[in-house]
Amino acid sequence: MNVHAPAFVKNAKLIAWVTEMATLCKPDAVYWCDGSEEEYERLCQQLVDAGTFRKLNPAKRPGSYLAWSDPSDVARVEDRTFICSQRKEDAGPTNNWMAPAEMRSTLQPLFDGCMKGRTLYVVPFSMGPLGSHIAHIGIELSDSPYVVVNMKIMTRMGKAVYDVLGSDGAFVPCVHTVGAPLQAGEKDVAWPCNPKTKYIVHYPETREIWSYGSGYGGNALLGKKCFALRIASNMGRDQGWLAEHMLILGVTNPEGRKYHVAAAFPSACGKTNFSMLVPPQGFEGWKVTTIGDDIAWIKPHADGRLYAINPEAGYFGVAPGTNFHTNPNCMASLDRNVIFTNVALTDDGDVWWEGMEKDTGEMPAHLIDWQGRDWTPALAKETGAKAAHPNARFTVAATNNPALDPQWNDENGVAIDAFIFGGRRSTTVPLVTEARNWVEGVYMAATMGSETTAAAFGAQGVVRRDPFAMLPFAGYNMADYFQHWIDLGKRLEASGARLPKIYTTNWFRKGEDGKFVWPGYGENMRVLKWMIDRIEGKAQGHENAIGVSPSYEELNWTGLDFSASQFQTVTSIDKAAWVAELKLHEELFSQLAYHLPAELTATKQALAQRLAA
Ligand code: OXD
Ligand code: MN
Repeated sequence: MNVHAPAFVKNAKLIAWVTEMATLCKPDAVYWCDGSEEEYERLCQQLVDAGTFRKLNPAKRPGSYLAWSDPSDVARVEDRTFICSQRKEDAGPTNNWMAPAEMRSTLQPLFDGCMKGRTLYVVPFSMGPLGSHIAHIGIELSDSPYVVVNMKIMTRMGKAVYDVLGSDGAFVPCVHTVGAPLQAGEKDVAWPCNPKTKYIVHYPETREIWSYGSGYGGNALLGKKCFALRIASNMGRDQGWLAEHMLILGVTNPEGRKYHVAAAFPSACGKTNFSMLVPPQGFEGWKVTTIGDDIAWIKPHADGRLYAINPEAGYFGVAPGTNFHTNPNCMASLDRNVIFTNVALTDDGDVWWEGMEKDTGEMPAHLIDWQGRDWTPALAKETGAKAAHPNARFTVAATNNPALDPQWNDENGVAIDAFIFGGRRSTTVPLVTEARNWVEGVYMAATMGSETTAAAFGAQGVVRRDPFAMLPFAGYNMADYFQHWIDLGKRLEASGARLPKIYTTNWFRKGEDGKFVWPGYGENMRVLKWMIDRIEGKAQGHENAIGVSPSYEELNWTGLDFSASQFQTVTSIDKAAWVAELKLHEELFSQLAYHLPAELTATKQALAQRLAA
């Protein structure tokens, strides 16, 4: 098959691969994306004509579109996600595994002819600033124009990538199909996908991604979770750097000193909100700026410090719950040039999702829900029907964010001063704890847990261990991943470097009445400032069995009515609860016994001894 590569594509390996894939997938046409605005507009119009997109009212939401997916295709499919390393142990017990040869022969017949009746789009993208030594290039082949326009927002996508790639540069090959070939004359549906068969496949040794059957989010936008986390974590292990499920923010104090913090929270724990935090009353002169909201690539620099970039260029965030109280910067980002997926449509051609009523004080009288059905507040009351799907998303360029950090696109990244690991726990885990050293920090991150929410995982309130918030994203054995963190810290420490401090946080402790005690959102600034004070040597903290904690007096309470006894409720350490907690850590460690670092077992023993003392 002649794929008619344009003159600006000079990489023979790329052309050969596209030819091979086109021969397999048998699309009607091959289109090489240039990433131009004109191309974006044209493809959006094509999606409108196909019924996938609806153009929103330009007076309300200029340049914006709404897509509704097939109800069977609304989220990442973790149970269909595979790490196909040569050895099962290299994928580890927390990943689905199949031998590469077996997976290849499973996928071969599925991909054969899978793009019939469709166009194969060649999408060149850079994860990270173009040409940055921390960045890497991927090429996604997809039969979904929805994917193309989302990739345009989420990555540095377009012609300039080919200049960086040159004639012999390396790229990560990513193949994606919705898995819905069209017979001659068959009319397409608005959201093609394969409701029966889905495979999200990673070959870590050969650094390949193959995705079949879904058009949604992380299943289809392969630069995000598949490349920037699962494949990149493998690259990082081999090359001595870190690919992490972390936001990156800058925090500048009134004296103008700026610090950078990378923070890992499990999905649906308010990462985007924290990355765009607006300092509350009492923090005049403080500034928080966003470098990234979801993923960080972190490399040791010649000065011995760890530098981070955000490999993405946009935010693919959860819309429900976002409002001017929870995240005013995000709301401001969403006022133009946005792709919304699975939110509700208002009668005047705008979007709506659960949580927006907190801004307006009332529910809209009528909406069309994410499945195209009439929705009213009365119906919602009676049946619990949600207007927006709980995992409804916005796709928006980082440059829309009024709190965007001036260094967000810096090819050298920013030097990290602190790591935060935050879970969602109604009991046991205090508001904030500092690790006494790197290994203790790795232990805290390795054992972090989160209570499941009904929307995401079925049973509510069950603690799911989510080490480093990487459970669904680590592309290799989780125990080896812990070792990689420990080794990197040891190497840096041996070279005399000052390592970032490590903290755990928990915004979600509940009182006896079952209500959250800590106000969260912008008020998290109070905790962030304590961390900065620790870094600057201004706060003493006090040591206890699990680490270093603040005293009530060490937090700035100006503008917030939060009593010492409330503080006690969110920071107390219940020894009996911690003894029970350690049993759960033990369960995790026995699951991960193969290659579990001895340092973590020793840290656990020391913790048990301190609790017993
Ligand atoms: C995400 C996730 O979509 O973590 O970012 O699930
Ligand atoms: Mn995420």
